[in-house]
Amino acid sequence: RPRVLSGIQPTAGSFHLGNYLGAVRQWVSLQEDHDAFYCVVDLHAITVEQDPKLLRQNTRVSAAQLLALGIDPERSTLFVQSHVPEHAQLGWIMQCLTGFGEASRMTQFKDKSARNESSVGVGLFTYPILQAADILLYQAHYVPVGEDQRQHLELTRDLAGRFNSRYGKNFRLPEAYIVKDTAKIFDLQDPTAKMSKSVPGGVVELLEDTKKSAKKIRSAVTDTGREIIFDVENKPGVSNLLTIYSALSGRSVDDLVTAYDGKGYGDLKKDLGEVFTEWVTPIQARVAEYLDDPAELDKVLARGAEHAREVASVTLRRTYEKIGFVAPV
Ligand code: TYM
Repeated sequence: RPRVLSGIQPTAGSFHLGNYLGAVRQWVSLQEDHDAFYCVVDLHAITVEQDPKLLRQNTRVSAAQLLALGIDPERSTLFVQSHVPEHAQLGWIMQCLTGFGEASRMTQFKDKSARNESSVGVGLFTYPILQAADILLYQAHYVPVGEDQRQHLELTRDLAGRFNSRYGKNFRLPEAYIVKDTAKIFDLQDPTAKMSKSVPGGVVELLEDTKKSAKKIRSAVTDTGREIIFDVENKPGVSNLLTIYSALSGRSVDDLVTAYDGKGYGDLKKDLGEVFTEWVTPIQARVAEYLDDPAELDKVLARGAEHAREVASVTLRRTYEKIGFVAPV
């Protein structure tokens, strides 16, 4: 079975609709016929300042959400990145292969550092290199992510290729697995910007009060005109709502456009608020159940980490050998 790996940051606690539709939804379906590895990337989370208590809590909240959204620990390997020390170890080797200019070209770094001007750490700069290590350790064929991760995937392939040609074949070159329709979910208040927790406003969080989400959806910025049609260029707001509606309800966009013929934006938004609430309510309940028993949750994560390490340690050992480290006796 082909292997997939992906990761998600625990930074904000609650995932948002972009995280789910752009990535986690694909994680759930890929676990059916792939050898899947999914991690909560706490090492990546500390590239910006964190409160330790919150980080610990949000890491568990993230794992609980993945389980509640359908990641099955019997089928997927679900783990916390810091439980597998090989990530940081291979991360160092990858740093030594990366050009300074190459790392400087990462647009996410440029965006994030522009926003955090006073406190940009080196970790934020080397963040995509650690991400490359996450992926390469597992020899993943595919990496299910949203559009914003494409450049990091390119870097990962470049680094893997560079290592292989310098030291001999060692890493599989992974491919980004990006589902076009939901690759980029837009902010409800600014439908030309990506939905993102670092730019609050029109972000629908899975764990917030559903009354609040329904209200955010009702007050989403729509476009001039009154027709409900899918036209990203001229109607980015309505098109974004249709994308979300379609993904959550399983109805095609065409079907929705026909159904809303003659109705107004208000009807669409009110109904989408209801569709979202209906979808997320049982998920919120399951998250609460998992968090009710943190000891059991930690056990699931420990089993995941144990399996992840079995795979990761083989790659790391081979990498050490290729690069010329003396093996300890
Ligand atoms: P993170 O935690 O920011 O986001 C998790 C996933 O959600 C996707 N995503 C979106 N998709 C569509 N529309 C949006 N508005 C939207 N916002 C976020 C992201 O593309 C991502 O797939 N660097 C990664 C975490 C990471 C990782 C990895 C991913 C660390 N190591 C190894 C894959 C493989 C990140 O910050 O994701």
